[in-house]
Amino acid sequence: MGDTLHLYMEGGADASAAALKREKVLEGLQIPEEPAKSIQHTAKEYILEPILTDEEIRAKEGTYLTEKDIKTLIEEDADVYSYNPETKEKRLIAKFRKNVIPHEMIQLGWESFYITAAASRNRGAAAGPIQLDSAYWKKRKPTMVQGWSAKYYQDGKVSKMRVNNNVFSSTLGYFEQTPFMGLPCRLTAYTQKYYKYFKAGIPFVEELNHCFKVLNPEEYKRQKKACDEKPFYRIGNTAFSSLTVNRNFRTALHLDDGDFRKGYGNLSVIERGKYHGGYTIFPRYGVGFNLRTGDYLAMDVHEWHCNTEMYETKEDKAFNKKLDKIYHDDPSTGTLGGEKPFTRISFVCYLRDKIRGCSETATRKYYKAIQFDLDKGPVAPVKKTRKKKHSEDQE
Ligand SMILES: [Fe+2]
Repeated sequence: MGDTLHLYMEGGADASAAALKREKVLEGLQIPEEPAKSIQHTAKEYILEPILTDEEIRAKEGTYLTEKDIKTLIEEDADVYSYNPETKEKRLIAKFRKNVIPHEMIQLGWESFYITAAASRNRGAAAGPIQLDSAYWKKRKPTMVQGWSAKYYQDGKVSKMRVNNNVFSSTLGYFEQTPFMGLPCRLTAYTQKYYKYFKAGIPFVEELNHCFKVLNPEEYKRQKKACDEKPFYRIGNTAFSSLTVNRNFRTALHLDDGDFRKGYGNLSVIERGKYHGGYTIFPRYGVGFNLRTGDYLAMDVHEWHCNTEMYETKEDKAFNKKLDKIYHDDPSTGTLGGEKPFTRISFVCYLRDKIRGCSETATRKYYKAIQFDLDKGPVAPVKKTRKKKHSEDQE
């Protein structure tokens, strides 16, 4: 692992100021006490029947579920399958492995990505029911509120776009072309902005790739092959073009989209400070996973899923009180989760399906035009244009 001190040298900070900042950032990081284990291909098997029908689960889209919706809580290595008694079909829901990310990689992942989850208002159903009492919506005049999306008044007119609650969630890595914006395939705006962090964090993403390869070799082989068709848009030597980084994002019930359907979802978390809850649940089967720092969950992202609430016990509060603040969010943006003294960063690594249609020539031309250098990152300061703002929203 290379030295990470350079990540803290923003704004002309010298080595000793950077070392102090690093100490603060690493304080309270929840590295497991036991050394990391090598990932095992097999584990205890669970076969679960659905407890909700298709209609019942679909009706809950965009709503929050709670710990009461968990009948089976998984906290140790497990392979979980669904079984449909009518069709007799057995399908993998998720494979869970505890403490399998080497601890120095957790630290690298944290230092590289803790800062990269920016506010987004386009996370759809996952962003949850429109929270009219949040600072975000109090500042605007919402109209046509429907579940998890709303329009709002802007200069006396109704906004064109529907938007969702503001949450901390960024796509890093590559994104397919966006014709209505006139943008070709590219590194997302936040990847450009945090380029040195992104590059430093690649070995962490490669570690998650290793877990994927061991646990789901068939799906891995298919996804790696598809990803290798366009190595220019691949993160390191992985089967991923992209990763979503979320911070304290309690997702409401949703399905993922935009990914390579014949592949598989890959989830991991890193935490600073203490909290309880935040389980990843698949309510149709009443199963929840207690995914904590260093754990890995291979999951079917096309099965309905969400998170339970994250909360602090008295002991958690006492611990978190001692932590220095490392985020300087503007509370007036009303981004959900920013008020919490602890941090849960989650990573979802995947291959964006449409990347396979990308043109390297168009991408290189675009990088040249915006003065983005693949070695150095942004050469000219990233301009805040209207176009840019919308492109960040879209990604
Ligand atoms: Fe998801």
